[in-house]
Amino acid sequence: SSADQLVIPTRSDSNKVAILTLNRPKALNALSTPLFKALNAELEKLEEDDGVRAIVITGGEKVFAAGADIKEMKDKEFAEAYTTNFLGSWNRLASIRKPIIGAVAGYALGGGCELAMLSDILICTPNAVFAQPEITLGIIPGMGGSQRLTSLVGKARAMDMVLTGRKIDGVTAERWGLVSRVTREGESVVQEAVKVAETVAGFGRVAVQAGKEAVNGSLDLPLEQGLRLERRLFQQLFATQDQKEGMSAFAEKRKPSWTNK
Ligand code: HXC
Repeated sequence: SSADQLVIPTRSDSNKVAILTLNRPKALNALSTPLFKALNAELEKLEEDDGVRAIVITGGEKVFAAGADIKEMKDKEFAEAYTTNFLGSWNRLASIRKPIIGAVAGYALGGGCELAMLSDILICTPNAVFAQPEITLGIIPGMGGSQRLTSLVGKARAMDMVLTGRKIDGVTAERWGLVSRVTREGESVVQEAVKVAETVAGFGRVAVQAGKEAVNGSLDLPLEQGLRLERRLFQQLFATQDQKEGMSAFAEKRKPSWTNK
C-alpha cells in the first residue's frame, strides 16, 4: 500500500508531469538511505519515460524534509562513509535531464534544503522554513549546501546560514533568490508547481533540455566557456524542427505545434 512507499509517484491530469511525494511522515521525511534509493529509482524510471516531460518533487504539507537521517548517521565512521561513498548517490539527481520543479511547504532543513536546491525551479509557501542546521550537529552541509546555497543567495547570507543554522521563511527565501515563486496564503504549492511544470512540459523538449543545460553550465564554467556552451546550444537549435515551427507560428500568428524534433 502507499503507506509503505517512501516515495509516492503520481501523474498530473495531462500525464506529462510526474509528481514524486516524499512519504516518511513519522520521521518528518528524514532522508534515509532507503528513501534516497527509492527517490533515485523513481527518477531513473521517469528519465526513461518518453511521456514524462517534467518532474515535481514535494513532501508533506508541514514538512518537505527535515534533513538527512540523523539517527542513521549518528554512529557512522569515516571508513564506512568514505568506502560506501556516503551521499554520493545524491548526485544522480543533479544529472537528470528533465526539468525538476521543487514544491516546498514547511521544513526544508539540512539535506532537505539541499534537495530542494537541486530543483531547477523552486516554489514554496510563505511560511516554509529553510535552514542549514548542520552546525548544530557538529557537521556542515554535505550535498551542496555550502556551494549551491552560496551561488543562489551570495556569500554573506550563505555564511550566515551555514555558521549559525539560522532559519529563513519562504518570503525571505524568495527575496534572497533561493526560490523563484511563493504561493499565496492557502494556495496549494503542489498545484502551483504542477502548473509551472505543465507550462514547461508544453514547450519543445529539445529546447527545454538545452535551456536547462545552458543555465546549469553557468554554475560549473568560467564565463567564457559558459558563453561558448550557450552559443553552441543556441546554434544547434537551428537544426531542430521546433525552431522552424516556433518561428513560423509566430510569423503566421498561430500557436506552434511542437514535434520535439
Ligand atoms: C532523523 C528525524 C529528523 C532527522 C526529525 N526526526 N528530523 N529523525 N533525522 N533529520 C524525527 C524525530 O526524531 C522524531 O522522531 C520525529 O521525527 C518528529 O520530530 P520532532 O522533533 O518530534 O518534531 P518537532 O518537535 O515538530 O520538530 C521538528 C523539527 C525537528 C524542528 C524539524 O525535528 C528538527 O530539528 N529536526 C532535525 C533537523 C536537522 O537538524 N536537520 C539536519 C540534519 S543533518 P520520534 O521517533 O521521536 O517521534 C543533514 C546533513 C545533510 O541534513 C548532509 C547532506 C545530505
